[in-house]
Amino acid sequence: MTTDQHPDHPGQPCAEPSGESSALTSGTEAGTGEHRPWTEDPEFVTLYDVENAGMWDTDFYRDLLDELGVQTVADIGCGTGGLALELAAAGIRVTGVEPAGAMIQVARQRIEQRIAEPTSSDHPGAALAERITLIHGYADQLESGAADAAVMVGHVAQYFLHRSEWDQVLAEAFRALRPGGWLAFESRNPAALELDAWDEESTRETQPHPGGGEFTSWLEVLSIEPDDDDGDLITCRAHSIMPDGRKLSADEPLRYRPLHVLCASLEQAGFVLEQLWGDWDRSELDEDSPEIIILARKPAASKESSR
Ligand SMILES: C[S@@+](CC[C@H](N)C(=O)[O-])C[C@H]1O[C@@H](n2cnc3c(N)ncnc32)[C@H](O)[C@@H]1O
Repeated sequence: MTTDQHPDHPGQPCAEPSGESSALTSGTEAGTGEHRPWTEDPEFVTLYDVENAGMWDTDFYRDLLDELGVQTVADIGCGTGGLALELAAAGIRVTGVEPAGAMIQVARQRIEQRIAEPTSSDHPGAALAERITLIHGYADQLESGAADAAVMVGHVAQYFLHRSEWDQVLAEAFRALRPGGWLAFESRNPAALELDAWDEESTRETQPHPGGGEFTSWLEVLSIEPDDDDGDLITCRAHSIMPDGRKLSADEPLRYRPLHVLCASLEQAGFVLEQLWGDWDRSELDEDSPEIIILARKPAASKESSR
């Protein structure tokens, strides 16, 4: 991930929400009247996976969780299951929650493919798959006090558009963690946004499509709703021209919370801030950093644990 690219979106920059709280829609440029979250659209989910394959954030979280020595991870908004599979391959038990049907469907297919693969490693496909539980739903379905770590990867944190939803997911992550458990996630740094660069000219890209041929995608900023309290709400439209010439588009509002809001919400949920980074190379967070990457901890002696 670089300063001016936002890869976790189908057809380019920005990321995407889903489920009941999202206004995100997809459809054809001609307008078929059909609008649904892109995360529920198998065509967009395919593009998402092409554009987000092997990203630095996956390596970052895998290494971090390895260093923390965790054995069980709750992956909130696990999407198409890329990180979950990597962690399971490293011997970690993972529970992924994902509200979008088309995303979790791909995660399930990934696991089935891995089971079918002949392997000579210490983690044969079936044993690896046995370490992953996928839940089609939300963080409130996670088991209480069971996870050594909870993660929100791929800017999932920005999909909680309203402060009440954000506070709620932090509370659920806190509940799902054992005392002393870790929370790690990232959110794009609003102080470093270069919205001028989010236009067709700078973001247009053509890539091979897994089904054959090529697709071209680019990004457009549709609206910016300033919010001094919770951070601006920025809505992007991702455009894609499919190999057969069809034009698709998907709109996606995301919340850009500044550091002080993220810190205040973590504290309110009961977390202690442990570490901040500004990019996937673990560089220090400063004004120009593209990311706000956070490692927080549930205190070892939290209220509920002393009950
Ligand atoms: C950009 S994707 C990231 C997926 C995956 N974590 C990754 O790194 O590829 C954002 C994900 O957040 C999910 N999401 C949106 N709202 C959510 C919610 N309320 N609870 C959990 N996940 C949510 C979306 O469905 C989508 O799969």
